Amino acid sequence: MKILVTGGAGFIGGNFVKYMVNKYPEYHIFNLDTLTYAGDLTKHRDVEERENYSFIKADIADREIINEFFNKEKFDYVVHFAAESHVDRSITEPEIFIKTNVLGTQVLLDAAKSINIKKFVHVSTDEVYGELDFDPETFFTEDTPLQPNSPYSASKASSDMIVRAYYETYNMPINITRCSNNYGPYHFPEKLIPLTISRVLNDERVPVYGDGKNIRDWLHVEDHCSAIDLVMHAGDLGEVYNVGGHNEKTNLEVVKTIISALDKSEDLIEFVEDRLGHDKRYAIDPTKLEKLGWRPTYNFETGIKQTIDWYLANKAWWENIVNGDYKNYFEEQYTFTE
Ligand code: NAD
Ligand code: DAU
Repeated sequence: MKILVTGGAGFIGGNFVKYMVNKYPEYHIFNLDTLTYAGDLTKHRDVEERENYSFIKADIADREIINEFFNKEKFDYVVHFAAESHVDRSITEPEIFIKTNVLGTQVLLDAAKSINIKKFVHVSTDEVYGELDFDPETFFTEDTPLQPNSPYSASKASSDMIVRAYYETYNMPINITRCSNNYGPYHFPEKLIPLTISRVLNDERVPVYGDGKNIRDWLHVEDHCSAIDLVMHAGDLGEVYNVGGHNEKTNLEVVKTIISALDKSEDLIEFVEDRLGHDKRYAIDPTKLEKLGWRPTYNFETGIKQTIDWYLANKAWWENIVNGDYKNYFEEQYTFTE
């Protein structure tokens, strides 16, 4: 069985590649990634020599190369993670989000259609549903209307619509997954949890947007990987599956939990200018996926501990990032008081 994973050098795709290479030695896992600032291959040192793993450097929006590659390898499954994924970057530079997330997805769909793929799994996000208010009884279900608020989530919602249209029009075998916020090993330090861990470890200030009361629903990346594995093998064709584990936290709770686990002072917290169009709350109802047999293995308490331990044990990986080009991004993105 040949499985193409796009974006397998990034955070979730990278974890998924490791998960699949280890769990299914009888499958061949192809990792296709163009290696943007968010992609790195050092995370695959433990699997790169395996016979069931290959890496291909390519841009998903490059139609000629993608078509050639699909015709050569005739994949059975595509699991599509490749994307521009950071909301803040989409606010300052929306164009690349449209090119990669919308056009790139359509190029992949055309290529997959031409070789009669068994299934195309499109990895999307709960952000396509927009925001919830703070009523704890409300959740995103698969029937919640799409109402994306950022250029990032609008680009993901657009790609979801195109994937859906290929199912309706061409009867293409697809699934769409919509997951809540992931965290865990190899999370790029621009995102809240790894940003907080890395900065607290360096005794640097942690920027919290607005009043810190916005809520996210956190899921450990390994639980997201097992969900996608299940959807790939057992998801009903044409269906959307929400993925989440009921771990709602305010951003301030998340930051304070990390500071306390590292035995540092809350004086490191600095409230900074709010994100434009900042969604108030995300919360997932995962009932449909649970009916398919999925259960998460981490709750937030066990997952954040495992993640902090991983960042402590893998300083070289994230220090290499925070001391590189990322420094310029950080300086442009944040303004602290003197
Ligand atoms: P990431 O930014 O860590 O990784 C994205 C990967 O895609 C990188 O390796 C990058 O090099 C690659 N890529 C970008 N543009 C490409 C292109 N044109 N061609 C080929 N490769 C390209 O992202 P992530 O956080 O791992 O997210 C992966 C997917 O999961 C995205 O589609 C995202 O929308 C979705 N998602 C993320 C979360 C989350 O919390 N991070 C939650 C739900 C869904
Ligand atoms: O919900 C799924 C989404 O989760 C994915 O689709 C996105 O790819 C992923 O990046 C993530 O989006 P968020 O915007 O929720 O994640 P981020 O880590 O950027 O921010 C989490 C919360 O923390 C959000 O309310 C904004 C806040 N925040 C973030 C940063 C980077 C801060 O307060 N300060 C910060 O410096």
